[in-house]
Amino acid sequence: MPSVFIKTYGCQMNERDSEAVAAQLVAKGYSLAASEAVADVILLNTCSVRDGAEQKALGKMTALAGDLRRKPGVLLGFMGCMAQSRGRELIDRLPDVDLVVGTQKFHRTAEYIDELLAGRRDKIVDVAEEAGSEATIREHLLNGNGTKSVTAFVSIMQGCNQYCTFCIVPYTRGGERSRTIPDIVAECRQLVERGVKEITLLGQIVTSYGKRDIPVRAGKSAFVQLIEAVHEIDGLERIRFTSPHPKGYGDDLVEAYGRLPKLVESAHLPVQSGSDRILKAMHRGYTRERYLEIIRKLRQVRPEMGITTDIIVGFPGETETDFEETLSLVREADFDNAFIFKYSPRRDTPAATMPDQVPHEVREERNRRTLASINEHGARKYGSCVGRMAQILVEGPSRKNPARMMGRTRTNRIVVFDGSERHRGQIMDVKITRAGSFTLYGDPAILNLDGPCNQ
Ligand code: 5AD
Repeated sequence: MPSVFIKTYGCQMNERDSEAVAAQLVAKGYSLAASEAVADVILLNTCSVRDGAEQKALGKMTALAGDLRRKPGVLLGFMGCMAQSRGRELIDRLPDVDLVVGTQKFHRTAEYIDELLAGRRDKIVDVAEEAGSEATIREHLLNGNGTKSVTAFVSIMQGCNQYCTFCIVPYTRGGERSRTIPDIVAECRQLVERGVKEITLLGQIVTSYGKRDIPVRAGKSAFVQLIEAVHEIDGLERIRFTSPHPKGYGDDLVEAYGRLPKLVESAHLPVQSGSDRILKAMHRGYTRERYLEIIRKLRQVRPEMGITTDIIVGFPGETETDFEETLSLVREADFDNAFIFKYSPRRDTPAATMPDQVPHEVREERNRRTLASINEHGARKYGSCVGRMAQILVEGPSRKNPARMMGRTRTNRIVVFDGSERHRGQIMDVKITRAGSFTLYGDPAILNLDGPCNQ
């Protein structure tokens, strides 16, 4: 059977979609190629959130198409967000591309590849909407290479209704559609039966999960009800989710952290800006003060809470004063880490045509200043862990140095240590001996009575 190579750009949702497509292909008898050089089918699962991500995938496909002259017969396809937003235009531009599959059609990819390889069809473009597509990302590729997966991602919903003025996602992923709680729990249960210890619930805005379909019960939102149901699964050790939206951090969710021990003390909570004026122009739906209040409340319930964020610099109309408010929020919020993005105009979004677009050099400069602040703060925060104990769940070999093992603290910090395969899947206490750049190094052999690493 032919072999397939999938290259994924962008977010964790894309990673998860690629995994489901790969698993569907494997179930049909295809093999997964170790590299694109030996693959019979090459798929690029694309991201549209910034222009850079689109250019990377287009550049990659152009290079692959160039290669094709030497390797005829290799099937080339685009999937995901850019496939959705550009559709047939991609084939007009790159005629060697055979397949374009949108964000509601991932589950058709295997069947389309069959048809193309059998010569029944010449080109396929499918970017239509499909009712029920939110429940089609369910197959997992566990236990690859004979090893067991400790962590898994579960897609609980698709789409977004927030319409932030900078963001293309509502146009590429469609409106919010949620799976049912029993369907999600059944998938999680199967994963745990297959050895998974930690599950990350995934969606564009997970805190909006089930809003339209599942009524609030005893003051608990549908999302909190879902976490409670997943929490019941025996053998599951940890629950994470990404990404929430600050507007969805009601008291019911804050309170859940104090009540549900499997819900780890970690949150990726995108703030985007520290200026109320810019937050409003972005259509974020909260103020700086409300954001900081959520963080305070979370730390009241779980003082050791690890919080990361996303920040956009250079949104249209952002003045030096607005930007300084972002810098001061970064100092106040005491983030573990932050992903900084230079504003990138996206087609059809309101912000792309707003007046006062910020010049490139200013976006660059603000990006550098924010990064410097985050790095300095991170170094201090990670450095303060040295000498303390941390509890980690061991995931497998370290990516940078496969001779060592890596795990994550509940607060989502990576800890690298000298270990072996027998540690995989274990929850271990390690002493932190050194801090690198957003990485900790630990020693499982040293017992320590100084207490846990909280900060
Ligand atoms: N320009 C720059 N960054 C963006 N993001 C989303 N849209 C844009 C854009 N047009 C960032 C946001 C979001 C993250 C996934 O990508 O910070 O949280």
